[in-house]
Order: sequence, then C-alpha cells, then structure tokens
Amino acid sequence: MSYLFRGTEIFKPAQTGVIDERVKCLREYVANIFFYTKEGTTIMIDAGYNYERLKEKMAWLDLDPSDIRHILITHQDTDHVGAVEDDSDLLFKDAKLYIGEIENRYLTGEEKRMVMHRTFALSRIRTSNEKVLLKDGEIFYIDHIKIECILVPGHTWGHMVYLIDDEYLFTGDTIWFGADGGYSFIAMLAEDNNLAVKSLAKLEHLLVKRNLYPKIITGHTGWTSDRFMAFAHRDRLCIWKDRNLVHDPEAPYDGYDESNDTEELARNHPVAEKQFIR
Ligand SMILES: [Fe+2]
Repeated sequence: MSYLFRGTEIFKPAQTGVIDERVKCLREYVANIFFYTKEGTTIMIDAGYNYERLKEKMAWLDLDPSDIRHILITHQDTDHVGAVEDDSDLLFKDAKLYIGEIENRYLTGEEKRMVMHRTFALSRIRTSNEKVLLKDGEIFYIDHIKIECILVPGHTWGHMVYLIDDEYLFTGDTIWFGADGGYSFIAMLAEDNNLAVKSLAKLEHLLVKRNLYPKIITGHTGWTSDRFMAFAHRDRLCIWKDRNLVHDPEAPYDGYDESNDTEELARNHPVAEKQFIR
C-alpha cells in the first residue's frame, strides 16, 4: 500500500499536535482524527484506522481513550471508523457513535461501499458501538458543544460534515487540499463524483449565506481558515496522478513514513495552517 502513494502527493496528513485551544489533531499514517474540547467535554471526530499507536499518541496530547464518550463519524470507511470496528482493541467500546442515517446503510449491509469508479466493493464494516443516527440539517448538543450535521453525499452516499459551534467545520473526505486550494476529494474513491461536486457547492453556499468563516479541517490534507482557498477548485476532482495538479512542496514523499511525527513536535509545535500557492 505504502509504495503506491510514494511521491504522488495525494495524502497530506497534518502532524500530531494542537491546532488551537479547542482542537487537537492526531496522525495515523495518511489520515487524521481530531479531538474537540469545550468546558471540560472532549468529543472525537472520526475514529481513524484500527491503529496500534492510538493510545500512545493520545497521551502525547494529554488525552486518554476513557475520556471519550462521543464520536462523530463523517463516513464509515475503515480509515475513519477503524478504532470502533469489532476487531479493533475496543478502546472506545462504551462511546456513542453519531453517524448519518444514510451512511448507516453500509453498516447494516443494505448498501455496498464501491470504489475504483464503482468497480470494486469493499467489505462490510462491523461495529457494536451504540449508534445515534443523524439527518441532514439536524442540530444537537453534547453538553455545551453545538453540532450541526450537513449531508454531503459523493465520496459515500451518506457522508456527513460537522459544523461545530459555528466555528469549526470537519469535512472528512469531501475536500482535498492541493497546493493551490481545495478540490473535490479523490475521484477514484467516490461513489458519485458529480454528486460530490454538487455537495461542495451546497456546503460553500451554506457558509457564504450565513457569513461563516470556520476553520475548515480535512481528513487527509490539513486545515485552513481561508474559506475562499478551501473551495477554490470545488468543481474539479482530485485525479490520481494528474500531472496538471500543482506540485505541492509540503506533501510528504511517503505518507506512511511517520518518522517525523514525534511527541516532541506534538507537544511543542502547533499544527500549522495549510499554506496555498495563489
Ligand atoms: Fe479517508
């Protein structure tokens, strides 16, 4: 797997560390998961891979799996739910999962997750955690944390993004940051790329209409507070090995090489905002 991604500038995870006083980021190979803390409550956004170093890296952030009672799931791919799958270490077995009601159809087996331009079916994911099923537009609170659910189908049929306290937008696998701004996420992994592009337009429109400028935090390519650049190429797809994509000097040569993700960096260096070439 690792060999495939070498030198391709596709996955560009942020390092493990602190984004700001509310958000901490943890790197698992090519993916990121996030922790959001407000007034003593910490929730987790996505559950990453079934990743053997999760507890260790959470400790770098002064977090423990037992702190987590609530996990927002953007979508059910194994790099976003791995730590709650039945064959994981079950670090979060008592946490509630929040997932879109449409996305849940993959978990029940009513829908098959198709990738590679819908030519290949992934195996069904199984989790025994308690689930709360969410609808598009639903707003709910976990203690003092306000969570708004926005359905953005395309990558998967029930992909949800979460707007938290109107200030943070966790986008999972909807936006892919290239060197020169955001694109619709990696084309070959989508159920429906036309739908993905429409969903990005809907998402941008919602932010513009409400005059919101949240921190936009992605599952694989870092974060930005620059709304304009985040949606700069929202009608274009990230195409695997597309020579037209602008070279990204920040992209790691090998996304699976974690040698530069260290406790020293996590504790002493904030996770930098993505810098775009304009
Ligand atoms: Fe992903």
